[in-house]
Amino acid sequence: MTRHFGRRPPGTQRALRIALPIVATVAIVAPLAWLWQDSRVSGVYSVMDMGYADYGVGAMSDAGVSEPGGHMQGQMPDHHMAATPRLITDMVADPARQADVRVDLVTRQQMLSVGGRSIPGFTVNGTSPGPEILARQGQLIEVHLRNESVADGVTLHWHGLDVPNAMDGVAGVTQDAVAVGGEFTYRFVADQAGSYWYHSHQVSNPQVAGGLLGSLVVMPRSGITTQQVDVSAIAHTYGGVRTVNGKAEDLRVPAKPGQRVRLRVTNTDNGPMKIWTSGPYRLLAVDGTEVHRPTKISDQSVTLTAGGRTDLELQIPTSGTAVRVQLSKATAVIIGPPGADVGVLPQPAAALDLLTYGSPTSLGFDPVHPTRQFEYRIGRRPGFVKGRPGVWWSINGRLYPHVPMYVIRQGDVVVMHIDNRSDEVHPMHLHGHHEVVLARNGVAASGSPWWVDSLNVLPGETYDIAFVANNPGIWMDHCHNLKHAAQGMIAHLIYEGFDTPYRIAGPADNQPE
Ligand code: C2O
Ligand code: CU
Repeated sequence: MTRHFGRRPPGTQRALRIALPIVATVAIVAPLAWLWQDSRVSGVYSVMDMGYADYGVGAMSDAGVSEPGGHMQGQMPDHHMAATPRLITDMVADPARQADVRVDLVTRQQMLSVGGRSIPGFTVNGTSPGPEILARQGQLIEVHLRNESVADGVTLHWHGLDVPNAMDGVAGVTQDAVAVGGEFTYRFVADQAGSYWYHSHQVSNPQVAGGLLGSLVVMPRSGITTQQVDVSAIAHTYGGVRTVNGKAEDLRVPAKPGQRVRLRVTNTDNGPMKIWTSGPYRLLAVDGTEVHRPTKISDQSVTLTAGGRTDLELQIPTSGTAVRVQLSKATAVIIGPPGADVGVLPQPAAALDLLTYGSPTSLGFDPVHPTRQFEYRIGRRPGFVKGRPGVWWSINGRLYPHVPMYVIRQGDVVVMHIDNRSDEVHPMHLHGHHEVVLARNGVAASGSPWWVDSLNVLPGETYDIAFVANNPGIWMDHCHNLKHAAQGMIAHLIYEGFDTPYRIAGPADNQPE
């Protein structure tokens, strides 16, 4: 056996041989470690300290510096120094006003029985979906929430209803999560007639998927409806099982021949859903807002955005047969005389385009001269989010939590350019405001004003949307594919001069996504 003893390198060379790999490793690891550290939101933090302030184009603010592209960017509005920062906790319904509708809701964590399977989930008053809340436009709704057993805590967010900010139900932004045994009272005036829904906004990805939700319907003030039958259908997938109103089988709704039916469909899943019918229909409303002069449609499907609602008007044939409404291939609503049925229908090739549907009418404001213009550009890039490496959603090129905080003032006319440069669809949801679609891919909307709170943005698509800043506070503007939200696809809108006393994480362990 021969052993080779190599010539010993001189001291310095040897030191280098040891040091070089270390230096190289540090050179690679240190920036990664910094990125990792930087992506973690420190234990407890205020949403006010998240990301950077974006004052938009056309802003009168002098708080920022202009960057290429004209966007004013700057430090966060200094909420500690502001003359009198207003707390969002002030933004409530008139405390002196009596409630018109009172509802007690109790949340539980329990097994659900869905399509013969036992699935872990959540209930509201013992069922999922929870009870439907029904009110008339202008009524004050008071919901008393008690969390009996949801271990992570809960909140209730009134999806699509533009409630006062302190009632918006976002854990860590507008309130603390309600722990087991805890209570919270929500009070708001249902100013908008239409179809809405409620769901938890604490650890919302698993809690919404697990069924902590229900529908909320506001009837028009006049009480006049032209439909004799009015029914809600919540489409939800529990552990892979597609359901309507919590049941894996088709929903059967009794109606007489010749009757007109208003069917309110809510998509509570993470992806868009196609709806089609056995007969002609009119699309009465989108996300709670009535379509202006909706025409009769046949042989076209409707796309229902994740988080969105669509109200269809159907007429039961006088022949005694039923109308079938497919909610994707998996489930259906069958409306008509008992026993009547229509077989499963193939999906029509064409889809209704809301950019051109219905007739134009006044928006109530002028979006041609906005006071703020923002960009919400969605991309994807490698990096760290919440301490985890991956290829994550970016907003204007930045990863959570370094995303824009859109700063506005009351009365602003805001135009936002949404640009999906990623390879997946994103159902974009703005809290507290309804936005109207001005254009898609640069083509101006030419039908009824298309008001949304949940907008299906396909890969490669751009949308220009506009809204009036008329509901002060701090509002989420996020993707309603709640998996994406949990991966950091969240930005916020803030009215200048507002602050929140709530914190993400903290003693209440607030985790809105
Ligand atoms: Cu339906 Cu931020 O939620
Ligand atoms: Cu998304």
